[in-house]
Amino acid sequence: MSRINRRGFLALATALLPSFLFSKAQASAGFDLAKAASTNGVLIAKSTSIKIGQTQVYSGKDSNGQNVEVILSRTKSGLVALKGTCTHQGCTIALEKTELVCPCHGSVFQANSGAVISGPNGAPKNSIKALAKFKVTEKSGNIYLK
Ligand code: FES
Repeated sequence: MSRINRRGFLALATALLPSFLFSKAQASAGFDLAKAASTNGVLIAKSTSIKIGQTQVYSGKDSNGQNVEVILSRTKSGLVALKGTCTHQGCTIALEKTELVCPCHGSVFQANSGAVISGPNGAPKNSIKALAKFKVTEKSGNIYLK
């Protein structure tokens, strides 16, 4: 059996640190929206997990059992929950700082509103629709999707 010495442990911990921080920003709740119809909504996160100005990505299942991502932002006006599916041809979009970028044809959306910044392959913003929104509520320290 091999032993890891202190220097080896520190080198391993340092190498893993950036991916650990990244995964915290890309939080996953594992929600199931099929359960939303029979309850007051589906718990997606604790209220304390997202502060004003932050955006996080949560993964789960939609009401048809398909994988879906929800982009949750807390703005000064309240919570915004967006469907993480591009309105051009349905690719899953990726959070890049304050924007959501589609890897398929490059459309860009505002992460805290879903508004289109630019369409596919640099097309004007009115060439596609804004991202779909979920109804989001907050009660007793929890955030729920409908
Ligand atoms: S599917 Fe997103 S830009 Fe085409």
